[in-house]
Amino acid sequence: MKGLILSGGKGTRLYPLTYTRAKQLIPVANKPVLFRVIEAIRDAGITEIGIVIGDTGPEIKEAVQDGSQFGVRVTYIQQEAPLGLAHAVKISRDFLGDERFVMFLGDNVIQGGISPLIAEFAHHHEWNSQIVLTEVEFPEQYGVARLNGEGRVVELIEKPKNPPSNLALVGIYMFDHHIFEATEAIKPSWRGELEITDAIQWLVEHGYVVYPHIHRGWWIDTGRPGDMLNANSLVLEELTPEIRGSVDSASEVDSRVTVEEGAEIINSVVRGPTIIGRHTRIVNSYVGPFSSIYHHVVIENSEIERSIVLEHSIIRDIPTRIQDSLIGRHAEVTVNTLRPKALKLYLGDYSQLGLL
Ligand code: G1P
Repeated sequence: MKGLILSGGKGTRLYPLTYTRAKQLIPVANKPVLFRVIEAIRDAGITEIGIVIGDTGPEIKEAVQDGSQFGVRVTYIQQEAPLGLAHAVKISRDFLGDERFVMFLGDNVIQGGISPLIAEFAHHHEWNSQIVLTEVEFPEQYGVARLNGEGRVVELIEKPKNPPSNLALVGIYMFDHHIFEATEAIKPSWRGELEITDAIQWLVEHGYVVYPHIHRGWWIDTGRPGDMLNANSLVLEELTPEIRGSVDSASEVDSRVTVEEGAEIINSVVRGPTIIGRHTRIVNSYVGPFSSIYHHVVIENSEIERSIVLEHSIIRDIPTRIQDSLIGRHAEVTVNTLRPKALKLYLGDYSQLGLL
């Protein structure tokens, strides 16, 4: 089997962070979501992976390179415009050939990986496709499936106004080569995209076997900042803690904290689950649960909780606790001590600042 990861898309719902960074490279528990996807596919025994890239391709190539750091071989497939998930499959035909494959959206995080799913699909040759469904609160935001009394797929609809069920399509799909007939046959949707949901519906209508697997654990499509923070919390809960950096005797670091190489915790309290990245310094501060502080960050005389802070940022002397925040790279959150006393802001487009 082969793997196909979709990593195009502009990530508009994560602006301003994604003005300067591909959304798939934003880390969750200090590891880019895309790396987690590659590792999940590799752990299922697949080493030939195609990555469909768009405008952010150069950045993705620089981060992933030829895949050898993950023990896989990566082929890049350029999508000239974001014309839909089924379009991405269509242009990947040469790479995929006639092999069965798993397609994984590069911004999805799923509990438990995909190894059992891949094993099932490899075993059941009679299945032309396997889809993953999970119960969600707002099905109208996803592709939605209707199953009959025997649990078979009857209908799949992309972002329906009146969802026929609360079973959403998770961004993980398995196909055999019949999917190419479907991607050729369907027409673009109202949003101008070739929808993979429509392609699978075509398979159903033409008598192919689409097996629905119901996923019971958590799954997050990290499209929005809130989703990113949720995914971060869930992944942190599953991390095996390890102290590889230094913690001084005046600090209190609980057992669910990971401190990476070269990180320093000085006169501070860190509560897990939390991860402190390489060469980050936490000084006279409190870092609360569910925080991921990436590498080369400085947090001094401040308190932060349930947040993600990206590399090379500085948080210093902040008098109120920072909470539920997503702070980008090279950001500075400090107090202006010069007169006149005033807020001094350099905020990018779409930034959000919630002052007390
Ligand atoms: C896409 C699919 C949708 C699926 C979702 C999962 O939506 O079109 O069917 O439920 O991924 O993340 P999009 O991210 O394009 O809105």
